[in-house]
Amino acid sequence: MVELLHTDRLLLRDWSATDAQTALKIYGHDDVSRWLHDLDRIPDAATMHSVLQRWDAERSDMAPGTGRWAVTLRDSGTLVGGISLLPMPVPEADVEISYQLAPEYWGRGYITEVAWALAHWAFQHSLVELFALVAPHNMRAAATARRIGMEWVGESGKYHGTHLQVFRLRPDDLARTHQK
Ligand SMILES: CC(C)(COP(=O)(O)OP(=O)(O)OC[C@H]1O[C@@H](n2cnc3c(N)ncnc32)[C@H](O)[C@@H]1OP(=O)(O)O)[C@@H](O)C(=O)NCCC(=O)NCCS
Repeated sequence: MVELLHTDRLLLRDWSATDAQTALKIYGHDDVSRWLHDLDRIPDAATMHSVLQRWDAERSDMAPGTGRWAVTLRDSGTLVGGISLLPMPVPEADVEISYQLAPEYWGRGYITEVAWALAHWAFQHSLVELFALVAPHNMRAAATARRIGMEWVGESGKYHGTHLQVFRLRPDDLARTHQK
């Protein structure tokens, strides 16, 4: 298990194909997948296993400061979510932060906590700004973006048939949210 960082309650680590069964509770759940613009709902553990193998294979080619990580509870190791920093579809030079949590863990501040820490890490690794692309009416995702200090900067062009809300984070915005 390769740890990227940890916070008081959470630990970010690389994904493993052995996470498939638990990861399905995240990426196989309608309440999560309906909001994702870059991944269809995963129907079963075998498909989840293939996706995790693909993510593993892609890891070594990813640009510094980008990647996909599993979000786990620090005390028990339980896998609760995923978070990524990936090149945006358009324009490719920008980096998108995206986060997903199994619904049974919503409402505890877990993603606010790790997204803040991951953004801090990204800015230490030469990124100068991050973006989140949030589907219209995805109030929880927008609220999380604002909690870590992101600012709404406009709408994207049509992407998969819809205009996404674009949020931006810069180091000064992050500093204003006063987390550790
Ligand atoms: C987006 C998503 C990760 C947000 O989950 P979340 O648990 O609401 O996220 P946060 O970590 O920001 O938690 C905030 C909630 O925890 C509560 N909370 C409890 N303790 C907290 C703490 N220490 N710090 C902050 N919030 C805390 C907040 O009050 C808030 O709950 P509320 O909305 O019921 O008032 C989740 O809804 C999800 O996976 N959605 C589907 C996928 C998705 O839309 N991804 C985004 C694509 S851009």
